[in-house]
Amino acid sequence: MDFQYQATPAQGLASLPADALLVVVSGKAVPAALEKPLASLLADAVAQGDFEFKANRVLYVHRPAGVKSARLAFVAAPDGSAKAFKSAVAAGLGALKALGVAYLAVARVGDEAVGDAHAEALVTAVSDAVYVYRHTKPSAPAAPRLAGVALIAGRKEGTAVMRGLKRGQALAAGVALARECANRPGNHATPSHLASEAKKLGKQFGFEVDVHDRKDIDKLGMGSFLAVAQGSDEPPRFIVMRYQGAAKTKAPVVLVGKGITFDSGGISLKPGAEMDEMKFDMGGAASVLGTMRAIGELKPKVNVIGLIAACENMPSGRAVKPGDVVKSLSGQTIEILNTDAEGRLILCDALTYAERFEPAAVVDIATLTGACVVALGHHHSGLFSADEKLATDLLAASRDALDPAWRMPLDEEYDEGLKSNFADMANIAGRAGGAITAAMFLKRFTAKFPWAHLDIAGTAWKSGAAKGATGRPVPLLTHFVLSRAG
Ligand code: BES
Ligand code: MN
Ligand code: ZN
Repeated sequence: MDFQYQATPAQGLASLPADALLVVVSGKAVPAALEKPLASLLADAVAQGDFEFKANRVLYVHRPAGVKSARLAFVAAPDGSAKAFKSAVAAGLGALKALGVAYLAVARVGDEAVGDAHAEALVTAVSDAVYVYRHTKPSAPAAPRLAGVALIAGRKEGTAVMRGLKRGQALAAGVALARECANRPGNHATPSHLASEAKKLGKQFGFEVDVHDRKDIDKLGMGSFLAVAQGSDEPPRFIVMRYQGAAKTKAPVVLVGKGITFDSGGISLKPGAEMDEMKFDMGGAASVLGTMRAIGELKPKVNVIGLIAACENMPSGRAVKPGDVVKSLSGQTIEILNTDAEGRLILCDALTYAERFEPAAVVDIATLTGACVVALGHHHSGLFSADEKLATDLLAASRDALDPAWRMPLDEEYDEGLKSNFADMANIAGRAGGAITAAMFLKRFTAKFPWAHLDIAGTAWKSGAAKGATGRPVPLLTHFVLSRAG
């Protein structure tokens, strides 16, 4: 897909050569800046009751009189923000996607100011709309014909728009990679597959990738990670990616992804309903891959380490059992009271591994708890951090990226429930505040660096008819990393 900036005044829209023209209108009336043929069309539609200035209302017109483009769509945006623009574009694409549009021009009228955030929003909205999963469904409907999109803006906005288009394209490719990895079923997206995707990225963008197998994981001393992996015949992988964009001496940002390629619950077996969705339990790992891809393309001046702990969580004669005690890489022992609380067991060893990089910050990303879905639903990811600066930076990145996150508490009181008579800690506490106690468990492994945890259990994928991975929080993470490049 080709994205371009095109300098055209609002008065030139009617004569614009494009297969389709999408005009995002903000305000409560036909904008004064809209030239005659377009303005009269819109005014007539309003008079006929066919269009209202309400968020995401769409008016489609075929072969509009006096307009060069064969297809025209108006879509209403409640304000001039990038957020409103993005959802308006998504709604407008809904009306145009199924048509034979190859070249689309998108303009804003009513609030013409276009910034880099709008350009980025356009790219991500278009890319999200044209993604089709077909790896195991070759019969899936053909992808839309759309080959090129131009964002119409004023002359002085060109630099910002082009910067936003570039960032948006890198981000969109990262999101698409994360979606594709997470959508692939557990028998395709195995730990080895994630490792080979990481290797491919390293080759393509010139960063180092090391992959550790079961023997290495054992030798490293990751007894907790290994306990989860031991129930499956599918070989586990510990993946280390190193992107170097700044001096070697500069402390890196470390991203740690939960890569459970299928979570059956293990001996603490999950109920059958919707268990298939546990193929998405590697969404954190997928977001690390996607972010590394975006970074590889944008080449910010910052050092980033991507760590992925990947394995299956399965019941078997060799599987870890409730009551078993294991020794983590940190030396702390863990009583595994519930084998379905496995994410924290693989992440704790990856977090300890991160110490060796003397990181400036460590962010782990995990589809960690059903409790987080209960708390926040499917809109906000849960953000946990005891570090004020890191939490503030991540929330700012989340806002800039239009990838919402909500800060959750981490008071010491929540740690109480993790006490065990047989080990340094148990891997579960009571049902109440389950997302927080999971975060408190992880916190015990993060004394040596500023740390944050993103629980993406509610945001990494959608259920129901639109079942599929979202690619979140690649936008948040990429913006965060870019902000660390100064
Ligand atoms: N991968 C799940 C979390 C999950 C469940 C995400 C449902 C999205 C939807 C995780 O490994 C898990 O099973 N967590 C348990 C923890 C409990 C045993 C303390 C949960 O949330 O039920
Ligand atoms: Mn589980
Ligand atoms: Zn899980």
